[in-house]
Amino acid sequence: MKLVAVINQKGGVGKTTISANLGHALSQKGKHVTLVDLDPQGQLSASLGLFRPPSHGIDEVMLNGATVDSVNVSTRESLMLVPAGVNLGGVEKHASEGVKRALLLKQGFERGMNDMDYVMIDCPPSSGLLMANAIMAADEVLIPVTGDYLGLNGLAHLLSTLKQFERLRQRPLERHVLLSRLVARRRLSKEVVEKLKNHFPGKILATTIREAAVLAECPGAGRTIFEYRPNSVSAKEFTTLAEDFIEGRMMS
Ligand SMILES: Nc1ncnc2c1ncn2[C@@H]1O[C@H](COP(=O)(O)OP(=O)(O)OP(=O)(O)O)[C@@H](O)[C@H]1O
Ligand SMILES: [Mg+2]
Repeated sequence: MKLVAVINQKGGVGKTTISANLGHALSQKGKHVTLVDLDPQGQLSASLGLFRPPSHGIDEVMLNGATVDSVNVSTRESLMLVPAGVNLGGVEKHASEGVKRALLLKQGFERGMNDMDYVMIDCPPSSGLLMANAIMAADEVLIPVTGDYLGLNGLAHLLSTLKQFERLRQRPLERHVLLSRLVARRRLSKEVVEKLKNHFPGKILATTIREAAVLAECPGAGRTIFEYRPNSVSAKEFTTLAEDFIEGRMMS
């Protein structure tokens, strides 16, 4: 089982969109996937069609030591979801308990998730306790970055945060970057790609996800791109992204 945290403290870069659609794409490739909605706003659950998700989910794991398999729900074939739960927002309020929460999260995944290939955690924006807990528990971080300078600004900060966590964890953390919401025609995007390649040599997933109106329409319908527009360019992008992800195919 590989535990992947989808992180970026910047809002709106595509974390939730990528979690839902890459998760579904991986499950269509025959992988067993569990998606975790670690954002108290519950947008990942809504994106998968659970507009009124169960009231308990990952909050029970982090607050009361429940195991993940006791709070997950089946959403598609081979695609499970752990909703946020109504008390998840409360986790952020008790910073002093951060280490305990991280431990409970890690243990919650270790028990009962052995038959999973991938667990992907959709983190909230901001570099608060929830993101910290996810990083501590994860094997790998997947960082969506948008193709503009603003999208790059926070990256140095994120990188130093990751280094700090790596020291705390005492085990390495794999990093992968994903170019998201790319507007290919913009020159700016190309410059950003070059900069990113310098920052993350050999760590940028080969497939980029372009800005596309259909992707923004999916969450409102509670469907992934494979259900909403299966023949779209975006659906194809997510399918090849899933292959990159499985095979470790990076931008040269
Ligand atoms: N490639 C894309 N093309 C068009 N719209 C997109 C794309 N990716 C995401 N969006 C839209 O942009 C908005 C923000 O995306 P998303 O919610 O995935 O970002 P996020 O990083 O999870 O945000 P937050 O930090 O607030 O959780 C959403 O309305 C989403 O539908
Ligand atoms: Mg989100």
